[in-house]
This record gives sequence, C-alpha cells and structure tokens, in this order.
Amino acid sequence: MLDKLEQGHGNLGEIIHFSKNVLRNTNSNYVQTFKEFTQYINAEVAEIKRLKAAGKTIIPEIEYIDIVENNISSEQKAWIHQRGCVIIRNTFAQSQAEAWGDEIKSYIENIGYLDQPDKGLDKYFSSLQDQKPQIYSVYWSKPQVEARQSENLATARKFLNRLWEFEHGENNVFDPDRECTYADRTRRRQPGDNSLGLKPHIDGGSVERWLDASGYQHVYRHVINGDWKRYNPWDARYRTDTTEIPSPAVCQMFRTFQGWTALSEQGPGDGTLQLIPIVKTAAWMLLRALQSDVPEDSLCNAVPARALLCDPDWHELALQGLISLPKMNPGDTVWWHPDLVHAVEDEHKGQHFSNVIYIAAAPYCEKNAAYLAYQAKCFVEGKSAPDFAAENYEVDTDLRANMSDLTDLGKKQMGMLSW
Ligand SMILES: [Fe+2]
Repeated sequence: MLDKLEQGHGNLGEIIHFSKNVLRNTNSNYVQTFKEFTQYINAEVAEIKRLKAAGKTIIPEIEYIDIVENNISSEQKAWIHQRGCVIIRNTFAQSQAEAWGDEIKSYIENIGYLDQPDKGLDKYFSSLQDQKPQIYSVYWSKPQVEARQSENLATARKFLNRLWEFEHGENNVFDPDRECTYADRTRRRQPGDNSLGLKPHIDGGSVERWLDASGYQHVYRHVINGDWKRYNPWDARYRTDTTEIPSPAVCQMFRTFQGWTALSEQGPGDGTLQLIPIVKTAAWMLLRALQSDVPEDSLCNAVPARALLCDPDWHELALQGLISLPKMNPGDTVWWHPDLVHAVEDEHKGQHFSNVIYIAAAPYCEKNAAYLAYQAKCFVEGKSAPDFAAENYEVDTDLRANMSDLTDLGKKQMGMLSW
C-alpha cells in the first residue's frame, strides 16, 4: 500500500479504507482490544495527573556521571522504560554548553542567515505551527559537530541504545556501541516568542504506521493481533525495516531516542519541550483509527509526509497526560522514545533565550549506514542534511566545520572512516 502511495498511484482515501479493513480482519476483536488498551492509557494518565498534583518527578532523571560509573540501577532503567524518556543531568559542563550557545549565535550572524529571506521550503511543520519557527536550519556549525562527536554523548548514547532489546537470533538489530551521526538543526528561541509552538505530535512517519506492511505492521504486530499486553515498545525488531515516505524532515534513520542538548537554562513556561510520557500512546493511536466513529478514509487526521498529530478530536484522553519538562540547565540532555508524543510550548514567557542543539541517538544498522553516505556528501558541500529541506544556508561559508574538525570518532560516526 505504501509503495502505491509513494508512486502517486491510488487514491489515499481508498488506500486507507483498504488498509483499515486488512488490520481489522487480523483481529475481529479490535473493538474490545481498543477498549482494554484505553483503560490502560486512562490509568497512565490518572497516574501522571496524580504525580503532577503531588509535585512529584514524572520524567526520569539521572546523572551523567552515574552512567560513566555504571551506577544506574535496574529500578532507574525500569522507570525510563515505563516513561519512555529521560533527562541526563550534566552530560556536559555548563560552561561548555554556554560557550557552544554563544558560538552558534555568532555563526548564525556571520553566515548572514538572518539577512536571507525565509526560503519557505520546510513544509513539514506547516500543520503544527502558527508562524515562522525559531529553529535554524544549520547543520554544520563547529559546536554542533563537536557536540555530536563528543565522547560524553558517545557514552550516553551507548547507555540509551542498550535500553532497547536489540539482540535478535544470530544477528543484532543494531550495534548499540557504534553511533551514527544524524545531523539536525538548532533552536534559539527568544523571550516572548509565540510563533514556535508545535502541537503534540510524533515524528518518523504518520500514515506509514498503518500502511507499511513490512515494517510498522510488524513493529505493532501484537497490538494488531489483539494481544496488546505483549507489545513491547523497546523491542527493536522490525524497527529498522520501516519505510518512510521521503519528505523534508521525516526522519529516515532509526533513532532509539530523539533528543536535545540544552545550551541555556530553560524551565516550564520558557517555551520548552512537552511530552506525554506514556510510551505506548502511538500503539493506542493505531487502534483508535480503526474504530467505527472514525471516517473510513481517515486515520484520525494523519497526513502523509507530515508529523503525526495527537489530535484533540480523537486523542483527547492521551493529551491529558501532556507535561512540560522541568527546569533544564546548560549541559543537560533530554531523550525520548521515537513513539513518544511531544510538543513545544506555545509561548516563551521567560526572560532568556532558550537554546538547544537537536542530537538524537541513532545506532549503527544497515538502515542508518545507508543514510550516512548521503549525509557525508552534504557535510562536505555544506548542504542541508538529506532528510531536511534543501535550504543550504551554509554552502558559501568557510566558517562551517570541515574534515579537519572531525575526530576519528566523528569520522566513524559520519561513515567516513571504518570502525
Ligand atoms: Fe518532533
């Protein structure tokens, strides 16, 4: 079904209708399965509300030094598994992160980014935002490259990758100890900004979750079969077999965690990230679209080549679990499962810029290695990374990072040196 859509054949509504029937025929009890799953989501939302009212920590937090010293307990790991996200405090020294923030500010100014008209090529978020975002389409500033190839992030991401079940028969789904660079952008959000707000959404494919028979349908097989309690969001099998409809900013890599590194202090109300820390929400949304109150040609407003919205009309229950990150300090990092619904607060009511570099965890596997080859070419030429709109703000500057700025680890992560 997905290939038909990609090739421009077939009517989307008909394809959706057909696919929904295929999924329903797999489990004739899909209504009851959804009811049970909804009870689970309801209980999770109630727990989040209870913790919030009691002023308790909801998003797990660990210290970077405890990863280094192998001091993360099984209880802490279980907590991360339950919530699908984690804050790693002091991943970098505060002074380092702040210096990177200053350097990126200068870089954006010196390459004349602000003098160039909005190229208007990035349509991905068009359904999510009110106006022009305060996310800069720069990929190759020296601080970004330095942070991505840092030993600290290598250590953190090895730990994060190992939270997944990656061993599968004789072949591992991915190698948790070898990281692939996924070049992404940077956010500099000014106080008072009310233009960046991103509605609650999931990245990494929208309609694909229903239509991709060789990838996503295997990922969610237990949910589709009705055995929803067996569904394990941390089972990596088939996650690297998914096919995404190519589109600016639809991530074609497999990421064990999305994430960012804070370059400035930012707390609730400062235009920060929000999460629904219920990792099975995406699987619940899958079943939601099969129910009889949803039009036959609709997947609860999922649109191809766009972020998958957690929609107030259809997913109101889950949206009640949306919470803001606690205060983040420069050098802290936050990580969330690729199925986790996330959003950005509508308005930055704080006093200072809230700045981050988006850096995810993308372990070595065939899918990710294939992407590296395209990305390396973009790096050398200073072009926008392949998954993103070709805005190419950095082509004409020699201020960007080049080969001499890559460490051996950085070259390996970029696929430019063998491991
Ligand atoms: Fe996102």
